[in-house]
Amino acid sequence: MRISFTAIGIIQTPFTDIAGMPIQPSGATNVPGQLVLDAQYEEGLADLNGFSHLILLYHFHLSKGYSLTVKPFLDTVERGLFSTRAPRRPNPIGLSIVRLDRIDGCILHVLDVDMLDGTPLLDIKPYVPTFDMRSDARAGWLEQSQERSASLKSDQRFREKK
Ligand SMILES: C[S@@+](CC[C@H](N)C(=O)[O-])C[C@H]1O[C@@H](n2cnc3c(N)ncnc32)[C@H](O)[C@@H]1O
Repeated sequence: MRISFTAIGIIQTPFTDIAGMPIQPSGATNVPGQLVLDAQYEEGLADLNGFSHLILLYHFHLSKGYSLTVKPFLDTVERGLFSTRAPRRPNPIGLSIVRLDRIDGCILHVLDVDMLDGTPLLDIKPYVPTFDMRSDARAGWLEQSQERSASLKSDQRFREKK
């Protein structure tokens, strides 16, 4: 089945190069970004102000191809693609939980961004602790290394085919 989406806006961030950028919002604390929504969607922002965090879905637009096993930033051995957050995937969709600072018309000012400048935005959803927080969650192979996500930086690895 072929599915086609249209971006609802663009994400502006300070990151113009993959090299050296954060690999998750946990490594991008307080990094500001803007979600510049197309004007036709502005009415849909009503009532979003009361939410502290947003779930963003976006297109890894500079990601090319994929491999079903990858050596993730946070490990030295190959892992199955779907057990990772690697940007090179069959459907290159990214998911980040960011903090909402304020909304000015069609522009949402957010914090903790971990995507490249110019990334096409596909959707915005409110983060709802009751729906989204899992106190009993396990982190699989990441159990040992997830804390390092705050300090590790990105490199070119995910941009190229193996
Ligand atoms: C490991 S992914 C995690 C993104 C998101 N938090 C997730 O879990 O889906 C973050 C990395 O993807 C790459 N990246 C970010 N924005 C991108 C874009 N628009 N196109 C291609 N690669 C991108 C950078 O290497 C960045 O460090």
